[in-house]
Amino acid sequence: MRDVSNEILRVTALHKAYDIKKLLRPSLKLKALTDINFHLDKKETLGIVGESGCGKSTLAKVLTKLEARSRGEITLLGKSYDDFLASEFHSKIQMVFQDPYQSLNPRKKALDIIADPLRINTNLSSLETRERVMAMMEKVGLREEFAQRYPHHFSGGQRQRLGIARALMLRPEILILDEPVSALDVSIQAQVLNLLLELQEEFKLSYLFISHDLSVIQHMSDRILVMYLGRVVEYGTRDQIFNNPLHPYTKILLESAPKTHREKSAQEITVKGELPSALNLPRGCAFEPRCPFAKPSCKESIPLLEIKQGREVACFEAPSK
Ligand SMILES: Nc1ncnc2c1ncn2[C@@H]1O[C@H](COP(=O)(O)OP(=O)(O)O)[C@@H](O)[C@H]1O
Ligand code: SF4
Ligand SMILES: [Mg+2]
Repeated sequence: MRDVSNEILRVTALHKAYDIKKLLRPSLKLKALTDINFHLDKKETLGIVGESGCGKSTLAKVLTKLEARSRGEITLLGKSYDDFLASEFHSKIQMVFQDPYQSLNPRKKALDIIADPLRINTNLSSLETRERVMAMMEKVGLREEFAQRYPHHFSGGQRQRLGIARALMLRPEILILDEPVSALDVSIQAQVLNLLLELQEEFKLSYLFISHDLSVIQHMSDRILVMYLGRVVEYGTRDQIFNNPLHPYTKILLESAPKTHREKSAQEITVKGELPSALNLPRGCAFEPRCPFAKPSCKESIPLLEIKQGREVACFEAPSK
């Protein structure tokens, strides 16, 4: 039985649509997230995987309040997102971005970048702030002299360490990591992933770990949510997803993932056929145009998530036993 008291985040019936404005035409709704439901427990890692464009970053942005949700409920430690003051919210949940360079102010020194969350959200003295920054730099493996340097003096891996240090300054309980190693060389990826695992242990963090890279997801995650065109198509433990995938999309992702680490870094996972436009979703199952197991009835209605073989899966044809 699951211990519900361990739950830190719960997402219920979450929807996010973007308004797409076209000149002289009525605006269109792009459904980036449709009816997303999941939970995150204390100290666990939930991996989110899916091709580019399936809504992973939108989910990260909604969860960190960078984007407003259209509908649905999100609770953090049992309290609705809407009831948090900004400083209280940011002290619980923080984000690490794919491209640390874009998310770091190039005109600020590392010391100030890492100190900013403390300066904005706390009343600590400048001495105390500096001490905390130096202590965090040491924890993420950045030497003291880096404090006075600007982001462009850092390598990709060091910049990501800087982004991680900044995200941890308010001692959050959850980190949302959106493709945190995708921009890094393979050799550096492993170092940053190991650092994240060490920090998770030390700070008792929960991770929502987003990646299109299955080997990274397998290495990091306790449970996994597979997304396709804004919907969850399969949601289970790492073993269920990797050893006995039930959704055709999950199966194809696993089969088409390059086997070696080196090959893998060079290319994204690909599934045959094009991803349909999120502005013009197919009727019925959104995976039907690309699905080798599709039946005519798959075009008729949308498969909802059902529990099959101990995990949730949204496919009419997935076997129950
Ligand atoms: N600000 C935005 N305005 C309009 N459409 C957006 C915006 N951000 C993302 N989208 C669309 O939402 C869908 C999901 O995008 P995204 O969340 O970035 O996916 P992923 O991170 O999985 O690649 C895509 O169709 C994308 O074009
Ligand atoms: S519902 Fe049908 S089209 Fe959709 S994934 Fe299952 S078998 Fe394929
Ligand atoms: Mg993304």
